[in-house]
Amino acid sequence: MDNNRVFIFDTTLRDGEQVPGCQLNTIEKVEVAKVLEQLGVDVIEAGFPISSPGDFKSVVEISKAVTWPVICALTRAVEKDIDVAAESLKYAKRGRIHTGIGTSPYHIQSKFNSNPDAIIERAIAAVKYAKKYVEDVEFYAEDAGRSDNVYLARVVEAVIKAGATVINIPDTTGYCLPSQYGEKIKFLMENVPNIHKAILSTHCHNDLGMATANSIAGVMNGARQVEVTINGIGERAGNTALEEVVMILRSHKELDLHTNINSKNIYKTSRLISSLMNMPVQANKAIVGRNAFAHSSGIHQDGVLKNRENYEIIDPVEVGISESTIVLTARSGRAALKHRLEILGVKLEKEKLEEVYADFLALADKKKDIKEDDLLVLVGDLGRGDRRIKLDFLQVVTGKNLVPMATVSLDIAGEKFSATESGNGPIDASIKAVKSIIHRKVTLQEFLIQAINKGSDDIGKVHMQVEFDDNIFNGFGANTDIITASVEAFIDAINKIGNAEKAATK
Ligand code: KIV
Ligand code: ZN
Repeated sequence: MDNNRVFIFDTTLRDGEQVPGCQLNTIEKVEVAKVLEQLGVDVIEAGFPISSPGDFKSVVEISKAVTWPVICALTRAVEKDIDVAAESLKYAKRGRIHTGIGTSPYHIQSKFNSNPDAIIERAIAAVKYAKKYVEDVEFYAEDAGRSDNVYLARVVEAVIKAGATVINIPDTTGYCLPSQYGEKIKFLMENVPNIHKAILSTHCHNDLGMATANSIAGVMNGARQVEVTINGIGERAGNTALEEVVMILRSHKELDLHTNINSKNIYKTSRLISSLMNMPVQANKAIVGRNAFAHSSGIHQDGVLKNRENYEIIDPVEVGISESTIVLTARSGRAALKHRLEILGVKLEKEKLEEVYADFLALADKKKDIKEDDLLVLVGDLGRGDRRIKLDFLQVVTGKNLVPMATVSLDIAGEKFSATESGNGPIDASIKAVKSIIHRKVTLQEFLIQAINKGSDDIGKVHMQVEFDDNIFNGFGANTDIITASVEAFIDAINKIGNAEKAATK
């Protein structure tokens, strides 16, 4: 076996899905499982089948839909749980039962009202029972983070003897310091005589913000499986984030450890989980946050433009983000402004740049971050490539106790097309009408309406981000009527799709 390979055990669909409000239906879970397969995870923990008929069904359907990763089902150290888990795994090409029991003084006494020896007997019995169904049995010592290491070593030795192939050492409450967690793994590696017959796994929670550090300490001391979730979602403060572990191992070559993850799929997987689970990713989240590759201070922007590596340790392309973003704010310098204008196809002489820079600073004082359209307005150039589709006419009927209706007419390369649709609001109705004319399968990802001066007579600026064919397109619109601005932003994004397609066929 390749001893430098770290197996990625993804529990987004089990520990991650336990988060209130994050529940997915079976169809969505199957979609996530397929995306995790493409990402290259080794194990998908698909659910806790005894907990609900929905969880049971999801494990069955994921087992049918997924080919390569091991499909894992969680149980307590209870025969009925194990029977149901085994049944749910019957279509899995490679199935694993994940059974276990608490081993900390808290769990032994206050949860089970038991004693250490009796807990070991229950652990052995559960592993032996699961072994009747599957070869691959993982045992978890719940709250191992607060369990005594000498006792934990006894438990681990006993369950390996009973047939467990993977031993999970969860820091269930997210309590351990990285040094303590690393020591725990080292202690088990050195003091469990049959440890070579199993793989040790980390499962760290983030209550004190140390989940990733603890998981890395675990693998540095001999663990070879890491239990993670996408975006670090999970119980309370969450679990170790897959993207963080993977990119740490890739960045720190001196650790000489690798995974099977195709890192270029990280960003799109993160976006999918965030939108399906309604769990926004914090802007400054490592690797996948909106600002993870965004540079806003003038000194940093200048440095990045000279050499990306001056301020970036990861090339955003490696995680599937097309390029780092230079955010234009009041702290941006001329270099950043010039760079952004050049991306938009605007080349300015030094003098003109000075003029635009002064206007830019004045606008940036009023507005936190400056968008493409603002810049183009500043340089007096609204030519952003072809605008094949134009909004010709828009009428909406809306109000209390009325079904909102919108009639839209588009001018497409000189020809007029119109449609009328209803929706849950006037913007929804209008966008539906546009979609029914253009016949494109686009998905709205982000929708932001912004008023600069906040008066009721202000111009509403709309930013819409749409996804088409796995690519993201940004559209902008500005109008005193926010419905018109929204439709214009949507059309702008559609025109950009058309321009990109045209450029690709050239
Ligand atoms: O955090 C934990 O201890 C768990 C176990 C059930 C594996 O999620
Ligand atoms: Zn957990």
